[in-house]
Amino acid sequence: MGHPYCCPLCKQPLIEETQHYTCGKCARQYRQFAGIPNFKPQEIYPGEERVLEDIAQKYDRMSFLELLEYADSRPEKNILPWELRRCLRFASKDRQSQQECLANYTRDTIARPGADQMHVTLKLLGYGRGQNNFRRCLDIGCGRGPWAVAAAAGYKEIFALDMDMSSLVLARKYCQEQGLTNIRFLSASSSALPFAENYFDLVNSQAVLEHVDNQPGTLREIQRVLAPGGYFTGDSVNTWNLFTPEPHVNIRLIGFLPKSWGHKLSLKLRDFPYDDLQPLTYVQLQKMLRDAFGSHYQIIPFVELPQKSLTQSVMKRLPTGFLNWFTHTHYILAGKQG
Ligand SMILES: C[S@@+](CC[C@H](N)C(=O)[O-])C[C@H]1O[C@@H](n2cnc3c(N)ncnc32)[C@H](O)[C@@H]1O
Ligand SMILES: [Zn+2]
Repeated sequence: MGHPYCCPLCKQPLIEETQHYTCGKCARQYRQFAGIPNFKPQEIYPGEERVLEDIAQKYDRMSFLELLEYADSRPEKNILPWELRRCLRFASKDRQSQQECLANYTRDTIARPGADQMHVTLKLLGYGRGQNNFRRCLDIGCGRGPWAVAAAAGYKEIFALDMDMSSLVLARKYCQEQGLTNIRFLSASSSALPFAENYFDLVNSQAVLEHVDNQPGTLREIQRVLAPGGYFTGDSVNTWNLFTPEPHVNIRLIGFLPKSWGHKLSLKLRDFPYDDLQPLTYVQLQKMLRDAFGSHYQIIPFVELPQKSLTQSVMKRLPTGFLNWFTHTHYILAGKQG
């Protein structure tokens, strides 16, 4: 079977060679690491190539659990902010808690979040024409793979894409050990997708948009690769969230502060940056979706929270117009006209 990739920059077909792909037009080369093609035109942090070579070497001789422990204990400071957060959290635990994390990894990182995200996808699709007989899907910003793994049971062919290769390596190893064969992993930027237009029936991206550097470009790329009649399901944390602590830094109402104040507060209280996140307000999200999808989108403020709570019952009584502005998360259903 041929490969489906095109050059992420000039969108021309790629020629497959043993360890890399070459663009027939601009001659750029894209290498593979641990069986995962890397379609990012440059390193996303200094020394990324060296890290990838190291991980690729370990891939074949380590089990999934060994790779996981290695990845979560990495000491480098020049890794991505969200990876660093995870590593610091893991490193600060005692040995017994670390073992518990590893033992519960599948449930906590893959199965539960995957089931929750698939629930969101199916619910959003229900707002469309109820169609759900998709064959080819793309998960953008798949991370360690929860949505893709959940989707593997119901969809024929899944592509799982992330900028961060070390997450992909783990996800691929996990799927190999679980015998899941219908997911292909690739590293690329969400705003330069290495696929031809009209390629996917369904594109999903959850817990990602606020991390992305080029949000308008990402939404335009999603629209481009969707086939006519296809759908995008996604979410975006709301800047003006009245109801829950901001999920990345766990501080209430931080989005109402000027960004630089929020950043300083987060550094002071949590020792974590806030300025690497780009949450959107309702109006900002509307504009970006309109630019990419015209009128073919809906923003839906679900009121479901992980636990039933007083906040949730309050939210249920509020009018949609108010929730659109002040909910914790905007859920998105967008489509390409058939
Ligand atoms: C909070 S994680 C969510 C991962 C996964 N969707 C989940 O729910 O577990 C955000 C992910 O977005 C990825 N990401 C951020 N910017 C990206 C971009 N421009 N292109 C592709 N992936 C990106 C990160 O590498 C990270 O894995
Ligand atoms: Zn090219």
